[in-house]
Amino acid sequence: MNATAAPIRRQIHPPPVPPSPFPYNPGSMLSVQDLNLEAVGYLLSRATELEGMDPLVRDRILLKRRIALLFYESSTRTRTSFELAAKALGADTTLVSSLSSSIEKGESLKDTGLTLRALGAEAIILRHNSSGAPWLLEQCTHLPVLNAGDGMHEHPTQALLDLRTILQRLRHGADQVDAGTLAGVTITIVGDILHSRVARSNMLLLPRLGAEVLVCGPTQLLPEVTATMGPGIRIERDFDAALRRSQVVMMLRIQAERLAGLQLDLEEYKADYQLTGQRLASLAPEAVVMHPGPIIRGLEVTAGVADGPQSAILDQVSNGVAIRMAVVERALLAQEGRV
Ligand code: CP
Repeated sequence: MNATAAPIRRQIHPPPVPPSPFPYNPGSMLSVQDLNLEAVGYLLSRATELEGMDPLVRDRILLKRRIALLFYESSTRTRTSFELAAKALGADTTLVSSLSSSIEKGESLKDTGLTLRALGAEAIILRHNSSGAPWLLEQCTHLPVLNAGDGMHEHPTQALLDLRTILQRLRHGADQVDAGTLAGVTITIVGDILHSRVARSNMLLLPRLGAEVLVCGPTQLLPEVTATMGPGIRIERDFDAALRRSQVVMMLRIQAERLAGLQLDLEEYKADYQLTGQRLASLAPEAVVMHPGPIIRGLEVTAGVADGPQSAILDQVSNGVAIRMAVVERALLAQEGRV
């Protein structure tokens, strides 16, 4: 062997990334990233149409179609608004909750999903404590799956209803959106960013419309690494500085159920991050105050702010029904090529 021969260098190419097979079903909404801005605009305008429609006409759209709500975590707003939305379109709904079903006996998500499909469910609305569960359910059932919140990951319909609320307050309820719709708008998301699927879905959506998103919280709830979450997003630890720049301030609940040993001094937290009437009046007297709920009054917001004139919290709740009507309709009609 010739010792002086140049070593053979192999070119190492990374393997090609296969295209994602998800969502399998065109009616599914697993992530807000499944939606391009045209689809977002379609859902916003369809929500407005459905909201204004004669209820006796509207309830023929999905008359007697079967929709299952599968909830492994508690919920008031999401569950009720999905159910009211499906019923407003004429669908029959059934609720399976982890506390009163065979899930308690150890039945898997896959078997529960296949059982619901065998019972005639044509779409499943899933809330689950594990991130990624909606993708698994869709893969197993190939039904349209609507992500109603998966662990610490995403809550896409919440981001859509939050966007509708912001557009109502700042853009006269516009429902056609593009990359400049929220140009010049700073939205600050405050508190438990780490555990918040609401924050994540909003961070994936709002910068695509041109908004600047500031995320604000202590390092335990907002580690430095989340700074790399995407373009248009910046960490601002100083709540007062963030408030001064904000047209919208989105407060988050501290998710005690997901803290898993994390220690937080609540008095210190309140001093640094609670939205009080005084802070709001002096730093952001025009800002829209939002909160996905449930609110812990006296912790992340004071009662006066939650009930005050700048609060859009109950508008967010109401917008949940309109947005979810559009999303549920799309779930069933997209696979038939009708939307
Ligand atoms: N915003 C939200 O998801 O609230 P619920 O947990 O009550 O559904």
